[in-house]
Amino acid sequence: MSKKEIKSVHYGLEKIFEGAQDFLPLLGTDYVEFYVGNAKQAAYFYKTAFGFQSHAYKGLETGSKDAVSYVLTQDKIKLVLTTPLNSSSSINNHIVKHGDGVKVVALWVEDAKKAYEETMSRGAKSYMEPTIETDEHGEVVRAGIYTYGETVHMFVERKNYKGPFLPGFQKWESAYNPPAVGLKYIDHMVGNVGWNQMDVWVQWYEQVMGFENFLSFDDKQIHTEYSALMSKVMSNGNGRIKFPINEPAEGKKRSQIEEYLDFYEGAGVQHIAVATDDIIKTVGQLQLNGVEFLSTPPEAYYKAVPGRLEEFSHELREDIEKLKGLGIMIDADEEGYLLQIFTKPVEDRPTLFFEIIQRMGAKGFGAGNFKALFESIEREQAKRGTL
Ligand code: FE2
Repeated sequence: MSKKEIKSVHYGLEKIFEGAQDFLPLLGTDYVEFYVGNAKQAAYFYKTAFGFQSHAYKGLETGSKDAVSYVLTQDKIKLVLTTPLNSSSSINNHIVKHGDGVKVVALWVEDAKKAYEETMSRGAKSYMEPTIETDEHGEVVRAGIYTYGETVHMFVERKNYKGPFLPGFQKWESAYNPPAVGLKYIDHMVGNVGWNQMDVWVQWYEQVMGFENFLSFDDKQIHTEYSALMSKVMSNGNGRIKFPINEPAEGKKRSQIEEYLDFYEGAGVQHIAVATDDIIKTVGQLQLNGVEFLSTPPEAYYKAVPGRLEEFSHELREDIEKLKGLGIMIDADEEGYLLQIFTKPVEDRPTLFFEIIQRMGAKGFGAGNFKALFESIEREQAKRGTL
């Protein structure tokens, strides 16, 4: 993408939201819940590979008869891994259809009932009516609405709660505690939706959630020789929550978004981007822990980096040889630069993956890296016979 194109799509969030009334104030991401086939083993993977810490648990031992959930944390990130304990649980249907994947993107709010009522009055589909859950640590109010596919936004009000996670969960004390890798918070979470559905969901986030579209990329900007996609980034009023929405576009071969939709059997969360302050250290450790990343961009990519930074008068503070050695990509815009890298899918279906991102002032999503990134994904697709 040229400098001019980046300029044309990039502008500050604060300008958009000047004077806008936020009917859905969000304090941040609360937790992300995955439905998985074997939560015990998934928890071991996220601890061992990604450096998450044991935090809370519910299961047979705590009186939960239908499902077991492990809560893992790293700095501000909370992951919940849930598996049904019998065939009658509806969670099974989700796993049979989608494989392991994200079911709930929970949003931390001051008033869950109000969040539910505001969004329902604007056309949301209900997942769970406002529900008060209590235990000896206090009370939590939760309410949920559906977003794309079978994915859910749960509003979580926890100002009157002092327990480890939610009522019903106990603190999870484990003898196995691998060190954290420096992941700090969720920077953005991307949804893949079907053909011609991107604008439908952009409108849904605008109307139902009060979000704004602050960046757009069309298939002329996001394409390789073989495939293409379109993407629009939605952000809430205070800019803390960012949800890019992708849809496939016509190309000579099958778009990676189409591959996702085929294997997830519908719309769903494509990737979770997690922020770090020291990407060289974080990615170095993740690689030692066995996390698989997409292949390193070619030599020509790194040769072009100094020029790209110079274009925007930014100075790279990191050692480019170290970035190259780890396969970390660099993108720049007016406000700064960013460093990012993408894992391979973290389950056997080519669906959900993670992005590790370090922002050095840039507020974009690595548009300058899209081509190199997608070529790398296409190499994986070719191996899978799905390009
Ligand atoms: Fe991303």
